[in-house]
Amino acid sequence: MPLFSGFLYIPPMPNEESFARLPGFRDFPPQELAFRQHIFDAWRRVSRRYGFLEYDGPPLEGLELYTAKSGDEIVGQLYNFQDKGDREVALRPEMTPSLARILADRSRSLPKPIRWFSVPQLFRYERQQRGRLREHFQWNVDVVGEADVSADAEVLAVALDGLRELGLDEMDFRARVSDRRLLRAVLEEAGVPSGEMESAFQVVDKVERESDERTLERLGELGLKPTAARKVLELLQAPGLERVQEHYGDRDAVGPVLEDLHRYLEDLAALGLEENVEVDIRIVRGLAYYTGIVFELFDRKGELRAICGGGRYDRLLELVGGESLPAVGFGMGDVVLGELLRDRGLSPHFRREVDLFIVAIGDDLRPLARRVAAAERARGRSVVYGLRSQSVRKQFSQAGAEGARRTLVLGPEEVSRGVAVLRDMQDGEEREVALESFFPDRREGL
Ligand code: HAM
Repeated sequence: MPLFSGFLYIPPMPNEESFARLPGFRDFPPQELAFRQHIFDAWRRVSRRYGFLEYDGPPLEGLELYTAKSGDEIVGQLYNFQDKGDREVALRPEMTPSLARILADRSRSLPKPIRWFSVPQLFRYERQQRGRLREHFQWNVDVVGEADVSADAEVLAVALDGLRELGLDEMDFRARVSDRRLLRAVLEEAGVPSGEMESAFQVVDKVERESDERTLERLGELGLKPTAARKVLELLQAPGLERVQEHYGDRDAVGPVLEDLHRYLEDLAALGLEENVEVDIRIVRGLAYYTGIVFELFDRKGELRAICGGGRYDRLLELVGGESLPAVGFGMGDVVLGELLRDRGLSPHFRREVDLFIVAIGDDLRPLARRVAAAERARGRSVVYGLRSQSVRKQFSQAGAEGARRTLVLGPEEVSRGVAVLRDMQDGEEREVALESFFPDRREGL
């Protein structure tokens, strides 16, 4: 209710509602941020272990970077608007078009293959549901400039190692791999016109989430006769390689792809990853630019949405005006992965920690506490002291709350002797230390 005080109008206090967080966005108080950082640290360690360099780009891009290349699904989810200079812009919904744009200007001068990774925050105006938010962080790992399937295998190995680094194992996740060219050949044979191929891929992408009737209906809408639609559906219901090999192995468009896939699987086996990987031709990926091998990672129990998705996109760089370079990579989001880690009890125990808390007995010693703090901070230690005059008991309880490993007690009697008492907060052991040892002209610290 607005209040009136004389002639002065006092506007109502904003209630919680008016400052509510936008739906699909997250806050990261320290504990949540520590969890996020734990994930990022693992991603960065693994990227470096495989020789990848970190890059980044702007969170806002020209709208047209996405409209032509990412496909309808992403375009329908864009956070886009017109800026004050009348430019059509969008918050980045994924990193791959930015990577292609960044490399378009630079790739010619870079040694190949280019191994780059990034951990951007991305924005998609999605219908909010479990595992899907309107912002997420995504680990992007891409190899640009190598067409051989060994690059595809290397990239999948990075993704799987990223999960292992966080404590997950083969019992927790699996990779489902396919090759878009196989599905294209099968769908072409079934009578899907080339102009409808992207729409047909979308139908396959959703086959696990829709009823058989609905899938048949949608295939029919794309021009497939009922018998052909049923044959495609049957193939999708037994999605391993055997069926494709048996029914389509002798087709020109299929033989070489099967060979590539076999080599890919051999490379993965040599990397010790065969237990994690299964071929599943239903994996097509929602994005339009993929051209070859594609994959998605899922939790083994099948309870969650995809943890990660990626594949080969050999034409995107050229499409955004760069050199024609083959490329392969993946994006792994922090949302589904975070759920899986929590579910498996793998979120790290959050502990607040400082090296030293300084307790001053009496206000006269507070300036000395600050001098000691400054000297110790200059040595790189984390130091906290009470910001206001407080009883010794309260200062010790604050030291506990701050997670201090040690406290330094400045008492008048000790200070008059040129010492202070250092207490180890774990075992309670105490010893006297000379005050002059804290100051920079002396080398040794605590
Ligand atoms: P994507 O499949 O759209 O691929 O996203 C990759 C992963 O990001 C998903 O598997 C999921 O874990 C996470 N993710 C996507 N959207 C959301 C969301 N709204 N909320 C939470 N998590 C989400 C790409 O973005 C490709 N650009 C990946 C890539 C890189 N391909 C080649 N290089």
